[in-house]
Amino acid sequence: MITFDARRRMFHIQTAEMSYLCSIGQDNRLVHRYWGSRLKDTEDLGELSQDWPVQDAGCSDHGYIPVPLEYRAQEPHTFDEPAVRVRFADGVTGARLVYKAHRLEENSLTITLAEETYPLEVELRYALYGDLPILSRSARFYNGGAGEIVLEKMASATVCLPDEPFWRLTHFAGRWGREYQRQETRLSQGKMVLENNRGLCAAHQLTPFFALDARGEATQTQGEVYYGALCWSGDFKITCERNDRGMLAVTAGVGETDTAWVLHERESFSTPQLLLGYSGRGFERMSETLYDLQYDYLCPRGKIDLERPVLYNSWYPYEFSLTEGNLLGLMERAAALGVELFVVDDGWMPGRTNDRAGLGDWVADPRRFPRGLSPLAERCHQLGMGFGLWIEPEMVNPDSALFREHPDWVLGETTRPRTLARNQYVLNFARDDVRDYAIACIDRLIDEYRLDYLKWDMNRYIGETGWPGAPAEKRAELRIRYIRNVYAVWEHMNRKYPHVLYENCAGGGGRTDFGMAAYADRINRSDNADPVDVLLLHEGFATLFLPKMAGGAGNISPSPNGMNGRVTPLDFRMKVGMMGSLSIGINLLQAPEGELEALKKCVAKFKRLRADLQNSYVYVIASLREGPYAVFQYVNRARTAFTVFAFGHGLHFRDAVPRLRLRGLRPEATYIRERDGLRARGDALMNGGIHVALHGDYEAVVDTYRMEETKN
Ligand code: DGJ
Repeated sequence: MITFDARRRMFHIQTAEMSYLCSIGQDNRLVHRYWGSRLKDTEDLGELSQDWPVQDAGCSDHGYIPVPLEYRAQEPHTFDEPAVRVRFADGVTGARLVYKAHRLEENSLTITLAEETYPLEVELRYALYGDLPILSRSARFYNGGAGEIVLEKMASATVCLPDEPFWRLTHFAGRWGREYQRQETRLSQGKMVLENNRGLCAAHQLTPFFALDARGEATQTQGEVYYGALCWSGDFKITCERNDRGMLAVTAGVGETDTAWVLHERESFSTPQLLLGYSGRGFERMSETLYDLQYDYLCPRGKIDLERPVLYNSWYPYEFSLTEGNLLGLMERAAALGVELFVVDDGWMPGRTNDRAGLGDWVADPRRFPRGLSPLAERCHQLGMGFGLWIEPEMVNPDSALFREHPDWVLGETTRPRTLARNQYVLNFARDDVRDYAIACIDRLIDEYRLDYLKWDMNRYIGETGWPGAPAEKRAELRIRYIRNVYAVWEHMNRKYPHVLYENCAGGGGRTDFGMAAYADRINRSDNADPVDVLLLHEGFATLFLPKMAGGAGNISPSPNGMNGRVTPLDFRMKVGMMGSLSIGINLLQAPEGELEALKKCVAKFKRLRADLQNSYVYVIASLREGPYAVFQYVNRARTAFTVFAFGHGLHFRDAVPRLRLRGLRPEATYIRERDGLRARGDALMNGGIHVALHGDYEAVVDTYRMEETKN
């Protein structure tokens, strides 16, 4: 619910668990008032309804005015990180934004701020998702005059936090193969900046996300957590600034590297959304809310409720050595295991027997696939499996027909050598003709092979942003236009082929972010499929993203695994694999009969549990970060069934795992363990806990409990 109190000139954005207040001050500036647990009685806001006490701006304070403006535009005497930096046609910089109007709709609010002198308007947009304790904020800039207005910074929002002696910042960081590792930082006076300038994706290094808890007191289950996620897959900047008054504010938006946007007469620019959430019950409530948001609002409608198929992927077994023969062989074996979808990964294009050729030419290699891919697609469909294909549409190899025909489509300058990474150049996706080429190729492939699944990969960062021949102003918009066009293609795919499942892959988890959540049905969590590392990767991933999305080329991976050279038992790998969207990446043509039998049983078991596992909340009962075992509890959304996954690795001295107190259950309900019929009430399981026997290395236990049906 969103209301406007005309007497106090106060906006109140309210859900069952959260309130957010801002008001129009005496000087018509929009001032932040409150963000936190729900304020029920809006009639009695006490001090919150007063105008902000503008402190003496005398010489002792050098003119500094510590007003928590709702959107900072470099007002005089405000020195904190601005949300917008602007330059007008006459060279004047900085904006003075005052309230002009507002529009209130059922679950959204738009407040228009106008520049006092220049024809710039900024619309601040607020939107709720039903009653979830989460608010989306964004800004739209509009030039109503004749002169150009240059946006040199355009954040989605600034948000102020309550005054507290200190705050802890939690975020997720890493690198390729090591994504989503939880980081904690005590914020002192100054700025902590989470910034990405790799251009094409961010999440290998930093998930565009922050969480803050006062005095570092929140736990998994208790305390207040304020968090935010930017719906954007390119460069971003999140600045957490604690000023000299101890006031903490977060400003978040698209990145600033080489970037500016020129608004000509009557043009506008809209920022991506910044999701802002509040939890009064620790980090777990944060995760539950983010799950609900994805299940019920963000992820592609019509598909999010479907169970993800069990998938086989050719990458780990054959990499670039694909042939029609080995793929047909794998298909027969995969179908016999109960696999539901077969994905031909990288290596099917002309000359693509290594990473030096083929990217850009989205046709089958005539040498290895003289009949094209149709026989494969047909056989797959005959065997009752869906057929999926890998592409990397943003890239091109120098050794490709596309590059020979369109060298001008590649990012880079003509005055400097272009940089290669993984032997590939980046196509200038900011160009609409490049976007349209990608759309045409994708349409053709989906139609020709009746694709059920498309894996979109992206395997390098930006090296240079050159756009030869383009005016300087367009060059400065390149990084934003690039990502917008990537989204435009994903939008097209979902609209034109809504039945196809799409995998978001960027060298593993490079684009695991809330911008892509709107388009993708599956995410390559990481290129790292070492099952022990996956326990750490999955913990970070599942704190923010739905576990049913967590895929990869094979989350039942070969052993030894190339990442760490680690040798692990198949049983351990299979049980780790079941925690995500199950995919097999083992060479079935070389696997011994016993392994095939075990995989078949695993697939059958997974299918039996899948409806609950893929429609659940995940609770991290024990983390591998804290000890030699990891325990995840998957509770279905109705809280009528749950599965405990427990993994031991490196236990010493015959140590036993202490009793594990479960979470998220109905206290009054009785749950029955499938394995042995053990019965226990929810409150006993949550307070007294369960015992899980793990010893030594690589022991794994998967136990499902179901609620006893009550007879009425
Ligand atoms: C990186 C992906 O993450 C892998 O799954 C695989 O598709 C390779 N690229 C192929 O080049």
